Amino acid sequence: MRIDIITVLPELLKSPFEASILKRAIEANLVEVHFHNLRDYTTDKYKSVDDYQFGGGAGMVMMVEPIDKCITKLQSQRNYDEIIYMTPDGETLNQGIANKLSLHENIIILCGHYKGVDQRVRDKFITKEISIGDYVLSGGELGAAVLCDAVIRLIPGVLGNETSALTDSFQDNLLAPPIYTRPREYKGMKVPEILFSGNFPKIEKWREEQAYKRTQERRPDLLKD
Ligand code: ADE
Repeated sequence: MRIDIITVLPELLKSPFEASILKRAIEANLVEVHFHNLRDYTTDKYKSVDDYQFGGGAGMVMMVEPIDKCITKLQSQRNYDEIIYMTPDGETLNQGIANKLSLHENIIILCGHYKGVDQRVRDKFITKEISIGDYVLSGGELGAAVLCDAVIRLIPGVLGNETSALTDSFQDNLLAPPIYTRPREYKGMKVPEILFSGNFPKIEKWREEQAYKRTQERRPDLLKD
């Protein structure tokens, strides 16, 4: 998979890709991540990427031309499955969206800034708009990092044990059950006996029940789907 991220702040975005699972995925050539600084696509000497809103109003708007130039250049090199715009008024990211995106070959992620992008960018280029939650960030970069993490860990081969992504919370619309490791008892707090029974079907059943109980308590909305 190849991900091209268009941003005015590439330095803000780089560190999540330089550690842990994302770093290993890149090193193993399971994913390529490329950063494109929008200021490299400006023609004026101040390298401006934003301008005042027509009609008045507070806040700057990202201009269509640098974004057009950057996306058009990328599109001349390969076909893209999705061109995603990170924005608080997009579709809220969930595990289902991450699963689908992880199957793609090439995606572009455009990070918004200031008040957002000129509507003509959205009309002409954007195929999907994603929000990471009902709150407003200073820009799309942190949202893009969240999206990339959620997607890249699902690419086959990225997680050492393939099954560990399958048992994540949300993967089957259930939250994950409680988990334990050593010691067996800590300050009087014991690990449930069933986990030492060696009876794997029984343990699996216990885990399913716990996952269901936790989902019912915390996220009953997930059980409705
Ligand atoms: N940009 C600003 N707020 C955002 C959000 N909640 N999700 C994605 N991109 C954003």
